[in-house]
Amino acid sequence: MKFSAVSTATKRPKADLVIVPFFKGKKEATLAATVADLKGDIQPILKAGDFTGKLEATMLTYLSGKKEKRLLFLGLGDEKKATLETLRRCFAAAMKRCQDKKWPQINVVLPESKKWPLDETTRAVAEGMSLSSYVFEEWKSKENQKLFHIKTLTLVGAKDTKVAQKVMDILSGVNFARDLINRNALDITPQTLATEARRLARQHADVTTHILDKEQIEKEKMGLFLAVASGSRIDPALIMVEYRGAPRSDDVTMVVGKGITFDTGGLNLKPTNSIEEQRSDMSGGAAALGIIQAAAATKLKANIVAVVPATENAIDSRSYKPGDIYRSYLGKTVEITNTDAEGRLVLADALAYGQKRFKPTRIIDMATLTGAVIIALGSVRAALYSNNEKLAKLCEHAGELTGERVWRMPLDEDYMSLMKSDIADLRNSGKKRAAGSVTAAIFLQEFIQNKTPWIHLDIAGTAFLDSPEHYHLTQATGAGVRLVITLIENL
Ligand code: BES
Ligand code: ZN
Ligand code: ZN
Repeated sequence: MKFSAVSTATKRPKADLVIVPFFKGKKEATLAATVADLKGDIQPILKAGDFTGKLEATMLTYLSGKKEKRLLFLGLGDEKKATLETLRRCFAAAMKRCQDKKWPQINVVLPESKKWPLDETTRAVAEGMSLSSYVFEEWKSKENQKLFHIKTLTLVGAKDTKVAQKVMDILSGVNFARDLINRNALDITPQTLATEARRLARQHADVTTHILDKEQIEKEKMGLFLAVASGSRIDPALIMVEYRGAPRSDDVTMVVGKGITFDTGGLNLKPTNSIEEQRSDMSGGAAALGIIQAAAATKLKANIVAVVPATENAIDSRSYKPGDIYRSYLGKTVEITNTDAEGRLVLADALAYGQKRFKPTRIIDMATLTGAVIIALGSVRAALYSNNEKLAKLCEHAGELTGERVWRMPLDEDYMSLMKSDIADLRNSGKKRAAGSVTAAIFLQEFIQNKTPWIHLDIAGTAFLDSPEHYHLTQATGAGVRLVITLIENL
């Protein structure tokens, strides 16, 4: 699927379908100007009140003797209430109508509204359409697949294809992450992730990859990471990918992503109805790699290093045990009070090692860290924790721009009392279940040094959906990729 652009309706090519958007109640006025040649087909339907522009409503009609064979009315709802996210969702609704249909050529009329500059409208429309064209159907037989047959989406009223091309480049990172997350845990191992990281370096001249294997991780004494990895017959890997888009600057954003390729819970085994989605427990790591892919594809002028501690959290007689104590890379010791609180352990060592090795200007970590955040925020917003007001604000703003919304959560010192151990420096799960997502963040903060500006995103609710939502048709969303790219762009 590719985008093309024409500035006016008269220049639009022949196509199988034209998508024409309407705000509620706003009849012919704006549209007459854009697609004047379709006025005669549109007016009677609006006049009869058969299509009112209700949010995400669609209606298909047939044309004759026109540039397109079909016309899809698309409702955008109340213009006053509309946001860029509304556009994404509405144009995704239009895309869903094209699923399974053999319509290779589609003309898309951009909505006219004074609310947004043309570039932002174009971006949101392109995002909504391309995000919703991703489906994961590798395991479906041909007759069960619901494929898109679209070859060209022509944006009618766009300046050029620049904006849409950038959207596609960023989405190459989002979809890369989605594929890694959706596939089987035994196919996406720490070694597979390492191979993908090496491929990024092969494909982009400004990307380099370094991998630490199990022996090297042992040599570096990453005791917490190794503890989690001890129950798996698949070796862990510490994956580091550097993108240098601003080689003259020493500003570096370090993105650390949780890379648990499957989380059984360890000896504190997860029960049925909790374990089934845990191949997605490397979503933070997949997003970190996706961010490098997106940054390299868009030639983002920034330096980014992705760090992904990758391992299974498996069950074996050699698994780490509840009650054990381990020493972290940083030196702090941790009493294992729950082997299912493994994400913070691998992240703690990756954060400490990454800071020492890369001396980052700022740190962003992303992790499917707690079930508690799903209880708190569902799949609508990710939890945002930060020790830095400016960075937190930037992240909130990027959230509103991209539709990957976040909600700031507290890091009061009071929560620390829940994470103190009687026999070690810290415990890895709270004394009570209270504030589960907060105590996890408090734990991570213990491994951030010199008050380096830091953001922690708990994406357990947003990374993987059990049913389709808006422009996410299958499971993995690629959460974090568009958010962090936009944040870094706006630094
Ligand atoms: N990977 C899970 C969190 C998770 C839950 C992600 C559901 C996606 C969907 C994480 O490792 C975990 O199990 N956390 C525990 C921590 C607890 C033992 C302190 C949790 O949230 O229950
Ligand atoms: Zn766990
Ligand atoms: Zn986990």
